[in-house]
Amino acid sequence: MSSSALGFDPHHTKIAIIGLGYVGLPLAVEFAKKYRVIGFDTGKRRINELNKGHDRTFSAESEALKDVVYHANGTGLHFTDKIEDIAGCNFYIVTVPTPVDEINRPDLTHLYKASETVGKVLKKGDIVIYESTVYPGATEEECVPVMEKVSGLKFNKDFFAGYSPERINPGDKEHTLTKVLKITSGSTPEIAEIVDQLYNTILTAGTHKAPSIKVAEAAKVIENSQRDINIAFVNELSKIFNRLGIDTDEVLQAAGTKWNFLKFRPGLVGGHCIGVDPYYLARKAQLVGYHPEIILAGRRLNDGMGEHVAHEVVKLMIKKDIEVKNSDVLIMGVAFKENCIDVRNTKVIDIANTLKGYDINITLYDPLADPVDVKHEYDWNSVTQLENGKCYDAVIIAVAHDEFRKMDPRKLCKENRVIFDVKGMLPKDQVDGRL
Ligand SMILES: NC(=O)c1ccc[n+]([C@@H]2O[C@H](COP(=O)([O-])OP(=O)(O)OC[C@H]3O[C@@H](n4cnc5c(N)ncnc54)[C@H](O)[C@@H]3O)[C@@H](O)[C@H]2O)c1
Repeated sequence: MSSSALGFDPHHTKIAIIGLGYVGLPLAVEFAKKYRVIGFDTGKRRINELNKGHDRTFSAESEALKDVVYHANGTGLHFTDKIEDIAGCNFYIVTVPTPVDEINRPDLTHLYKASETVGKVLKKGDIVIYESTVYPGATEEECVPVMEKVSGLKFNKDFFAGYSPERINPGDKEHTLTKVLKITSGSTPEIAEIVDQLYNTILTAGTHKAPSIKVAEAAKVIENSQRDINIAFVNELSKIFNRLGIDTDEVLQAAGTKWNFLKFRPGLVGGHCIGVDPYYLARKAQLVGYHPEIILAGRRLNDGMGEHVAHEVVKLMIKKDIEVKNSDVLIMGVAFKENCIDVRNTKVIDIANTLKGYDINITLYDPLADPVDVKHEYDWNSVTQLENGKCYDAVIIAVAHDEFRKMDPRKLCKENRVIFDVKGMLPKDQVDGRL
Protein backbone atom coordinates (compact mmCIF):
# COMPACT_ATOMS: atom_id res chain seq x y z
CA MET A 1 0.00 0.00 0.00
CA SER A 2 1.37 3.46 -0.87
CA SER A 3 2.35 6.15 1.63
CA SER A 4 -0.18 8.59 0.24
CA ALA A 5 -3.12 6.23 0.80
CA LEU A 6 -2.14 5.49 4.39
CA GLY A 7 -0.84 8.85 5.53
CA PHE A 8 2.84 8.92 6.33
CA ASP A 9 4.13 5.47 7.14
CA PRO A 10 7.80 5.44 8.13
CA HIS A 11 7.94 1.64 7.83
CA HIS A 12 7.01 1.77 4.16
CA THR A 13 9.23 4.63 3.12
CA LYS A 14 11.80 4.14 0.39
CA ILE A 15 13.31 7.31 -0.97
CA ALA A 16 15.11 8.11 -4.21
CA ILE A 17 17.13 11.32 -4.32
CA ILE A 18 17.59 12.53 -7.91
CA GLY A 19 20.76 14.64 -8.23
CA LEU A 20 23.56 14.22 -5.69
CA GLY A 21 25.13 17.66 -5.52
CA TYR A 22 25.46 20.17 -2.69
CA VAL A 23 21.77 19.74 -1.87
CA GLY A 24 21.04 16.11 -2.78
CA LEU A 25 23.97 14.36 -1.13
CA PRO A 26 23.56 15.67 2.45
CA LEU A 27 19.83 15.01 2.13
CA ALA A 28 20.44 11.41 1.02
CA VAL A 29 22.88 10.88 3.90
CA GLU A 30 20.43 12.27 6.45
CA PHE A 31 17.40 10.31 5.19
CA ALA A 32 19.53 7.14 5.02
CA LYS A 33 19.90 7.25 8.83
CA LYS A 34 16.15 6.53 9.04
CA TYR A 35 15.10 4.98 5.73
CA ARG A 36 16.27 3.01 2.76
CA VAL A 37 17.59 5.59 0.29
CA ILE A 38 18.85 5.40 -3.27
CA GLY A 39 20.96 8.28 -4.47
CA PHE A 40 20.65 8.64 -8.25
CA ASP A 41 22.83 10.90 -10.37
CA THR A 42 23.44 10.99 -14.11
CA GLY A 43 27.08 12.00 -13.50
CA LYS A 44 29.10 8.76 -13.76
CA ARG A 45 32.17 10.38 -12.23
CA ARG A 46 30.10 11.57 -9.27
CA ILE A 47 28.65 8.09 -8.67
CA ASN A 48 32.08 6.44 -8.98
CA GLU A 49 33.59 8.88 -6.49
CA LEU A 50 30.71 8.54 -4.04
CA ASN A 51 30.91 4.76 -4.23
CA LYS A 52 34.57 5.11 -3.19
CA GLY A 53 33.53 7.29 -0.25
CA HIS A 54 34.83 10.50 -1.81
CA ASP A 55 32.72 13.68 -1.95
CA ARG A 56 34.54 16.39 -3.91
CA THR A 57 32.08 19.04 -2.66
CA PHE A 58 32.73 18.27 1.04
CA SER A 59 28.98 18.65 1.59
CA ALA A 60 28.32 15.40 3.46
CA GLU A 61 29.86 13.93 6.58
CA SER A 62 32.72 11.82 5.23
CA GLU A 63 32.07 9.06 7.78
CA ALA A 64 28.55 8.63 6.40
CA LEU A 65 29.91 7.90 2.94
CA LYS A 66 32.00 5.02 4.24
CA ASP A 67 28.76 3.40 5.31
CA VAL A 68 26.95 3.22 1.99
CA VAL A 69 25.23 -0.13 2.42
CA TYR A 70 21.78 -1.26 3.42
CA HIS A 71 21.40 -2.35 7.01
CA ALA A 72 19.23 -5.15 8.34
CA ASN A 73 16.98 -2.56 10.04
CA GLY A 74 15.90 -1.21 6.65
CA THR A 75 18.03 1.94 6.62
CA GLY A 76 21.02 2.85 4.49
CA LEU A 77 22.22 4.42 1.30
CA HIS A 78 23.09 3.15 -2.15
CA PHE A 79 24.40 5.24 -5.08
CA THR A 80 23.52 4.54 -8.68
CA ASP A 81 23.24 5.96 -12.17
CA LYS A 82 20.83 3.22 -13.26
CA ILE A 83 17.21 4.20 -13.55
CA GLU A 84 15.94 0.67 -12.79
CA ASP A 85 17.49 0.92 -9.30
CA ILE A 86 15.09 3.69 -8.31
CA ALA A 87 11.95 1.82 -9.36
CA GLY A 88 10.13 0.66 -6.26
CA CYS A 89 10.68 3.82 -4.23
CA ASN A 90 7.58 5.67 -3.00
CA PHE A 91 9.18 9.08 -2.47
CA TYR A 92 11.23 10.77 -5.18
CA ILE A 93 13.09 13.92 -4.17
CA VAL A 94 14.46 16.00 -7.04
CA THR A 95 17.57 18.09 -6.32
CA VAL A 96 18.98 18.87 -9.77
CA PRO A 97 20.50 22.22 -10.84
CA THR A 98 18.34 25.11 -12.03
CA PRO A 99 20.75 27.49 -13.78
CA VAL A 100 20.13 30.36 -16.21
CA ASP A 101 21.18 30.44 -19.87
CA GLU A 102 23.60 32.92 -21.51
CA ILE A 103 20.99 35.66 -21.41
CA ASN A 104 19.88 34.92 -17.86
CA ARG A 105 16.65 33.09 -18.66
CA PRO A 106 15.74 30.11 -16.43
CA ASP A 107 17.08 26.88 -17.88
CA LEU A 108 14.78 24.05 -16.78
CA THR A 109 16.51 21.34 -18.84
CA HIS A 110 17.74 19.38 -15.80
CA LEU A 111 14.32 19.60 -14.17
CA TYR A 112 12.56 18.32 -17.30
CA LYS A 113 15.05 15.44 -17.61
CA ALA A 114 14.75 14.51 -13.93
CA SER A 115 10.94 14.62 -14.23
CA GLU A 116 11.17 12.31 -17.23
CA THR A 117 13.35 9.91 -15.23
CA VAL A 118 10.87 9.87 -12.37
CA GLY A 119 7.94 9.56 -14.81
CA LYS A 120 9.45 6.31 -16.13
CA VAL A 121 9.33 4.61 -12.73
CA LEU A 122 6.34 6.35 -11.15
CA LYS A 123 3.52 4.20 -9.74
CA LYS A 124 0.20 4.86 -8.10
CA GLY A 125 0.47 6.51 -4.71
CA ASP A 126 4.02 7.86 -5.17
CA ILE A 127 4.98 11.36 -4.03
CA VAL A 128 7.52 13.45 -5.95
CA ILE A 129 9.06 16.27 -3.95
CA TYR A 130 11.05 19.00 -5.69
CA GLU A 131 13.80 20.84 -3.83
CA SER A 132 15.42 22.67 -6.76
CA THR A 133 14.93 26.43 -6.65
CA VAL A 134 12.35 27.54 -9.21
CA TYR A 135 9.85 30.34 -9.84
CA PRO A 136 6.33 30.04 -8.40
CA GLY A 137 4.33 27.58 -10.48
CA ALA A 138 7.20 25.64 -12.04
CA THR A 139 6.59 22.37 -10.16
CA GLU A 140 2.92 22.05 -11.12
CA GLU A 141 3.07 23.79 -14.51
CA GLU A 142 6.38 22.46 -15.87
CA CYS A 143 7.39 19.28 -14.02
CA VAL A 144 4.06 17.59 -13.32
CA PRO A 145 2.95 17.55 -17.01
CA VAL A 146 6.22 15.80 -17.94
CA MET A 147 5.62 13.11 -15.31
CA GLU A 148 1.98 12.71 -16.37
CA LYS A 149 2.97 12.31 -20.02
CA VAL A 150 5.78 9.81 -19.41
CA SER A 151 3.99 7.74 -16.76
CA GLY A 152 0.46 7.89 -18.12
CA LEU A 153 -0.67 8.50 -14.53
CA LYS A 154 -2.99 11.30 -13.39
CA PHE A 155 -1.73 14.03 -11.07
CA ASN A 156 -3.41 14.29 -7.66
CA LYS A 157 -5.29 11.07 -8.34
CA ASP A 158 -2.55 8.52 -9.07
CA PHE A 159 0.55 10.40 -7.94
CA PHE A 160 1.26 13.56 -5.96
CA ALA A 161 3.81 16.32 -5.64
CA GLY A 162 5.49 18.33 -2.93
CA TYR A 163 7.96 21.18 -2.78
CA SER A 164 10.48 21.73 -0.01
CA PRO A 165 13.22 24.24 -0.80
CA GLU A 166 16.70 23.75 0.59
CA ARG A 167 18.38 26.45 2.68
CA ILE A 168 21.89 25.04 3.06
CA ASN A 169 24.85 27.33 2.65
CA PRO A 170 27.97 25.65 1.21
CA GLY A 171 31.03 25.98 3.44
CA ASP A 172 28.84 26.86 6.46
CA LYS A 173 29.36 24.23 9.16
CA GLU A 174 26.81 25.84 11.51
CA HIS A 175 23.65 26.06 9.39
CA THR A 176 23.60 22.45 8.29
CA LEU A 177 20.61 20.58 6.88
CA THR A 178 19.04 19.28 10.07
CA LYS A 179 19.63 22.47 12.05
CA VAL A 180 17.75 24.80 9.72
CA LEU A 181 13.97 25.06 9.68
CA LYS A 182 12.62 23.90 6.33
CA ILE A 183 9.54 24.88 4.36
CA THR A 184 7.35 22.01 3.20
CA SER A 185 4.27 21.83 0.98
CA GLY A 186 2.15 19.38 -0.97
CA SER A 187 -0.23 19.23 -3.90
CA THR A 188 -3.19 18.44 -1.58
CA PRO A 189 -3.60 19.14 2.16
CA GLU A 190 -3.11 15.42 2.94
CA ILE A 191 0.07 15.23 0.86
CA ALA A 192 1.36 18.44 2.46
CA GLU A 193 0.95 16.74 5.84
CA ILE A 194 2.81 13.60 4.69
CA VAL A 195 5.66 15.67 3.21
CA ASP A 196 5.83 17.68 6.41
CA GLN A 197 5.95 14.56 8.58
CA LEU A 198 8.62 12.98 6.40
CA TYR A 199 10.97 15.96 6.78
CA ASN A 200 10.21 16.29 10.46
CA THR A 201 11.67 12.85 11.02
CA ILE A 202 15.15 14.14 10.13
CA LEU A 203 15.09 17.84 11.06
CA THR A 204 15.84 18.95 14.58
CA ALA A 205 14.91 22.55 13.65
CA GLY A 206 11.42 21.56 12.46
CA THR A 207 9.37 22.68 9.49
CA HIS A 208 7.01 25.37 8.28
CA LYS A 209 4.14 23.87 6.31
CA ALA A 210 3.25 26.33 3.54
CA PRO A 211 -0.37 26.43 2.30
CA SER A 212 0.58 25.52 -1.28
CA ILE A 213 3.46 24.48 -3.50
CA LYS A 214 3.43 27.91 -5.19
CA VAL A 215 3.81 29.68 -1.84
CA ALA A 216 6.76 27.45 -0.93
CA GLU A 217 8.39 28.05 -4.33
CA ALA A 218 7.87 31.81 -4.03
CA ALA A 219 9.25 31.86 -0.48
CA LYS A 220 12.52 30.27 -1.55
CA VAL A 221 13.05 32.53 -4.52
CA ILE A 222 12.39 35.69 -2.51
CA GLU A 223 14.77 34.64 0.29
CA ASN A 224 17.64 34.82 -2.17
CA SER A 225 16.27 37.79 -4.11
CA GLN A 226 16.02 39.77 -0.88
CA ARG A 227 19.67 39.03 -0.12
CA ASP A 228 20.70 39.98 -3.63
CA ILE A 229 18.88 43.32 -3.46
CA ASN A 230 20.26 44.14 -0.01
CA ILE A 231 23.81 43.41 -1.15
CA ALA A 232 23.21 45.50 -4.29
CA PHE A 233 22.19 48.40 -2.05
CA VAL A 234 25.42 48.28 -0.03
CA ASN A 235 27.43 47.80 -3.22
CA GLU A 236 25.87 51.00 -4.51
CA LEU A 237 26.67 52.73 -1.21
CA SER A 238 30.27 51.54 -1.53
CA LYS A 239 30.54 53.17 -4.96
CA ILE A 240 29.10 56.44 -3.62
CA PHE A 241 31.21 56.53 -0.46
CA ASN A 242 34.33 55.68 -2.41
CA ARG A 243 33.82 58.84 -4.47
CA LEU A 244 33.20 60.81 -1.31
CA GLY A 245 36.38 59.46 0.30
CA ILE A 246 34.44 57.78 3.13
CA ASP A 247 35.16 54.21 4.26
CA THR A 248 32.01 52.14 3.66
CA ASP A 249 32.80 49.66 6.40
CA GLU A 250 33.05 52.48 8.96
CA VAL A 251 29.70 53.88 7.79
CA LEU A 252 28.06 50.45 8.01
CA GLN A 253 29.47 49.88 11.48
CA ALA A 254 28.08 53.22 12.65
CA ALA A 255 24.67 52.72 11.03
CA GLY A 256 24.59 49.13 12.31
CA THR A 257 24.25 50.42 15.86
CA LYS A 258 20.58 51.16 15.11
CA TRP A 259 18.32 48.27 16.13
CA ASN A 260 16.63 47.90 12.76
CA PHE A 261 19.54 48.57 10.40
CA LEU A 262 20.16 45.47 8.25
CA LYS A 263 23.73 44.23 8.34
CA PHE A 264 24.88 43.54 4.79
CA ARG A 265 28.36 44.02 3.40
CA PRO A 266 29.39 44.97 -0.12
CA GLY A 267 30.93 42.24 -2.27
CA LEU A 268 30.80 40.00 -5.30
CA VAL A 269 27.60 38.00 -5.71
CA GLY A 270 28.37 34.73 -7.47
CA GLY A 271 27.40 31.09 -7.21
CA HIS A 272 24.28 29.39 -8.45
CA CYS A 273 21.78 30.70 -5.88
CA ILE A 274 21.75 34.39 -4.96
CA GLY A 275 23.06 35.54 -8.33
CA VAL A 276 20.69 33.29 -10.25
CA ASP A 277 17.40 32.89 -8.40
CA PRO A 278 16.24 36.52 -8.84
CA TYR A 279 16.27 35.91 -12.61
CA TYR A 280 13.76 33.09 -12.05
CA LEU A 281 11.40 35.43 -10.22
CA ALA A 282 11.96 38.21 -12.78
CA ARG A 283 11.18 35.86 -15.67
CA LYS A 284 7.93 34.68 -14.13
CA ALA A 285 6.96 38.30 -13.41
CA GLN A 286 7.61 39.16 -17.07
CA LEU A 287 5.50 36.21 -18.21
CA VAL A 288 2.54 37.70 -16.35
CA GLY A 289 3.15 41.18 -17.76
CA TYR A 290 5.06 42.81 -14.92
CA HIS A 291 8.53 44.17 -15.61
CA PRO A 292 10.47 44.01 -12.36
CA GLU A 293 12.54 47.08 -11.62
CA ILE A 294 14.17 46.58 -8.23
CA ILE A 295 14.96 42.88 -8.73
CA LEU A 296 16.74 43.43 -12.05
CA ALA A 297 18.42 46.65 -10.92
CA GLY A 298 19.94 44.66 -8.05
CA ARG A 299 21.14 42.01 -10.46
CA ARG A 300 22.70 44.59 -12.81
CA LEU A 301 24.50 46.32 -9.99
CA ASN A 302 25.85 43.13 -8.46
CA ASP A 303 26.86 41.69 -11.82
CA GLY A 304 29.02 44.76 -12.45
CA MET A 305 31.01 44.55 -9.21
CA GLY A 306 33.89 42.42 -10.57
CA GLU A 307 34.59 44.96 -13.28
CA HIS A 308 34.27 47.77 -10.71
CA VAL A 309 36.90 46.13 -8.45
CA ALA A 310 39.31 45.76 -11.39
CA HIS A 311 38.94 49.42 -12.34
CA GLU A 312 39.48 50.53 -8.75
CA VAL A 313 42.70 48.50 -8.60
CA VAL A 314 43.98 49.97 -11.87
CA LYS A 315 43.17 53.51 -10.63
CA LEU A 316 45.11 52.89 -7.42
CA MET A 317 48.06 51.50 -9.38
CA ILE A 318 48.17 54.58 -11.62
CA LYS A 319 47.98 56.86 -8.56
CA LYS A 320 51.02 55.05 -7.15
CA ASP A 321 52.92 55.31 -10.47
CA ILE A 322 52.90 51.55 -10.95
CA GLU A 323 53.11 50.74 -14.63
CA VAL A 324 49.90 48.87 -15.37
CA LYS A 325 50.81 47.20 -18.65
CA ASN A 326 52.72 43.95 -18.01
CA SER A 327 52.39 44.37 -14.24
CA ASP A 328 51.95 41.26 -12.06
CA VAL A 329 48.68 41.03 -10.17
CA LEU A 330 47.75 38.26 -7.75
CA ILE A 331 44.08 37.47 -7.24
CA MET A 332 43.52 35.50 -4.03
CA GLY A 333 40.48 33.25 -4.34
CA VAL A 334 38.55 32.02 -7.35
CA ALA A 335 35.68 30.13 -5.65
CA PHE A 336 32.38 31.98 -5.54
CA LYS A 337 32.55 32.20 -1.77
CA GLU A 338 34.80 31.55 1.20
CA ASN A 339 35.80 28.02 2.21
CA CYS A 340 34.07 26.54 -0.80
CA ILE A 341 35.54 24.74 -3.82
CA ASP A 342 32.75 25.73 -6.20
CA VAL A 343 33.80 28.07 -9.01
CA ARG A 344 30.55 28.07 -10.97
CA ASN A 345 29.34 31.60 -11.67
CA THR A 346 32.17 33.12 -9.65
CA LYS A 347 32.46 36.85 -10.17
CA VAL A 348 36.20 36.75 -9.48
CA ILE A 349 36.58 35.88 -13.16
CA ASP A 350 35.07 39.28 -14.04
CA ILE A 351 37.95 40.92 -12.15
CA ALA A 352 40.47 38.78 -14.05
CA ASN A 353 38.84 39.38 -17.44
CA THR A 354 38.75 43.15 -16.93
CA LEU A 355 42.39 43.29 -15.79
CA LYS A 356 43.39 41.18 -18.78
CA GLY A 357 42.12 44.01 -20.98
CA TYR A 358 44.97 46.15 -19.53
CA ASP A 359 47.60 43.56 -20.52
CA ILE A 360 48.23 42.70 -16.89
CA ASN A 361 49.82 39.35 -15.97
CA ILE A 362 47.36 37.72 -13.63
CA THR A 363 47.94 34.89 -11.18
CA LEU A 364 44.68 33.30 -10.04
CA TYR A 365 45.37 31.57 -6.75
CA ASP A 366 42.93 29.39 -4.86
CA PRO A 367 44.05 26.52 -2.62
CA LEU A 368 40.53 25.01 -2.67
CA ALA A 369 39.29 25.42 -6.24
CA ASP A 370 40.29 22.70 -8.67
CA PRO A 371 42.34 24.20 -11.57
CA VAL A 372 40.66 21.68 -13.89
CA ASP A 373 37.26 23.20 -13.04
CA VAL A 374 38.58 26.74 -13.50
CA LYS A 375 40.03 25.84 -16.91
CA HIS A 376 36.87 24.02 -17.92
CA GLU A 377 34.46 26.79 -16.86
CA TYR A 378 36.47 29.88 -17.85
CA ASP A 379 39.54 28.83 -19.84
CA TRP A 380 41.72 30.44 -17.16
CA ASN A 381 44.72 28.77 -15.51
CA SER A 382 44.69 28.88 -11.74
CA VAL A 383 47.16 27.65 -9.14
CA THR A 384 46.64 26.04 -5.76
CA GLN A 385 50.10 27.06 -4.51
CA LEU A 386 52.00 30.30 -4.86
CA GLU A 387 55.33 30.49 -6.65
CA ASN A 388 58.02 30.70 -3.98
CA GLY A 389 59.43 34.20 -3.49
CA LYS A 390 57.44 35.89 -6.27
CA CYS A 391 56.36 39.47 -5.50
CA TYR A 392 53.41 41.22 -7.11
CA ASP A 393 52.57 44.80 -8.07
CA ALA A 394 49.06 44.33 -6.74
CA VAL A 395 47.23 41.76 -4.64
CA ILE A 396 43.44 41.49 -4.67
CA ILE A 397 41.85 39.56 -1.82
CA ALA A 398 38.74 38.40 -3.64
CA VAL A 399 37.58 35.53 -1.40
CA ALA A 400 38.03 35.30 2.36
CA HIS A 401 39.08 31.64 2.65
CA ASP A 402 40.18 30.77 6.21
CA GLU A 403 43.55 29.82 4.77
CA PHE A 404 44.07 33.42 3.55
CA ARG A 405 43.41 34.76 7.03
CA LYS A 406 46.63 33.09 8.18
CA MET A 407 48.65 34.83 5.44
CA ASP A 408 50.06 38.34 5.25
CA PRO A 409 49.46 39.65 1.70
CA ARG A 410 51.98 42.44 2.31
CA LYS A 411 54.69 39.79 2.19
CA LEU A 412 53.60 38.85 -1.33
CA CYS A 413 54.05 42.37 -2.72
CA LYS A 414 56.76 44.55 -4.16
CA GLU A 415 57.65 47.64 -2.13
CA ASN A 416 55.45 49.95 -4.19
CA ARG A 417 52.21 48.02 -4.45
CA VAL A 418 48.43 48.01 -4.20
CA ILE A 419 46.48 45.73 -1.88
CA PHE A 420 42.75 45.71 -2.55
CA ASP A 421 40.55 43.92 -0.05
CA VAL A 422 37.17 42.99 -1.54
CA LYS A 423 36.10 41.12 1.60
CA GLY A 424 37.23 43.49 4.35
CA MET A 425 39.52 40.75 5.64
CA LEU A 426 42.40 42.99 6.71
CA PRO A 427 42.50 46.11 8.91
CA LYS A 428 41.94 49.32 6.94
CA ASP A 429 45.51 50.56 7.49
CA GLN A 430 47.00 47.45 5.85
CA VAL A 431 45.24 47.92 2.51
CA ASP A 432 45.14 50.56 -0.21
CA GLY A 433 41.53 50.05 -1.16
CA ARG A 434 38.44 48.10 -0.24
CA LEU A 435 34.78 48.04 -1.19
N1 LIG B 1 24.09 24.72 -3.48
C1 LIG B 1 23.34 25.42 -2.66
O1 LIG B 1 23.84 26.07 -1.75
C2 LIG B 1 21.85 25.43 -2.78
C3 LIG B 1 21.10 25.87 -1.69
C4 LIG B 1 19.73 25.87 -1.79
C5 LIG B 1 19.12 25.46 -2.97
N2 LIG B 1 19.89 25.07 -4.04
C6 LIG B 1 19.19 24.63 -5.24
O2 LIG B 1 19.19 23.22 -5.25
C7 LIG B 1 19.30 22.72 -6.60
C8 LIG B 1 20.52 21.81 -6.72
O3 LIG B 1 21.68 22.59 -6.46
P1 LIG B 1 23.10 21.94 -6.15
O4 LIG B 1 23.97 23.05 -5.70
O5 LIG B 1 22.94 20.75 -5.27
O6 LIG B 1 23.51 21.45 -7.60
P2 LIG B 1 24.82 20.62 -7.99
O7 LIG B 1 25.20 21.09 -9.34
O8 LIG B 1 25.80 20.64 -6.89
O9 LIG B 1 24.31 19.12 -8.08
C9 LIG B 1 23.34 18.69 -8.93
C10 LIG B 1 23.57 17.22 -9.26
O10 LIG B 1 22.49 16.82 -10.08
C11 LIG B 1 22.99 15.95 -11.09
N3 LIG B 1 22.04 15.93 -12.19
C12 LIG B 1 21.83 16.86 -13.15
N4 LIG B 1 20.83 16.48 -13.95
C13 LIG B 1 20.36 15.30 -13.47
C14 LIG B 1 19.32 14.42 -13.84
N5 LIG B 1 18.54 14.71 -14.89
N6 LIG B 1 19.14 13.30 -13.13
C15 LIG B 1 19.94 13.02 -12.07
N7 LIG B 1 20.94 13.81 -11.67
C16 LIG B 1 21.15 14.95 -12.34
C17 LIG B 1 24.34 16.51 -11.42
O11 LIG B 1 25.18 15.52 -12.00
C18 LIG B 1 24.85 16.96 -10.05
O12 LIG B 1 25.60 15.97 -9.39
C19 LIG B 1 19.34 23.97 -7.48
O13 LIG B 1 18.05 24.28 -7.89
C20 LIG B 1 19.85 25.04 -6.55
O14 LIG B 1 19.45 26.32 -6.94
C21 LIG B 1 21.24 25.01 -3.95
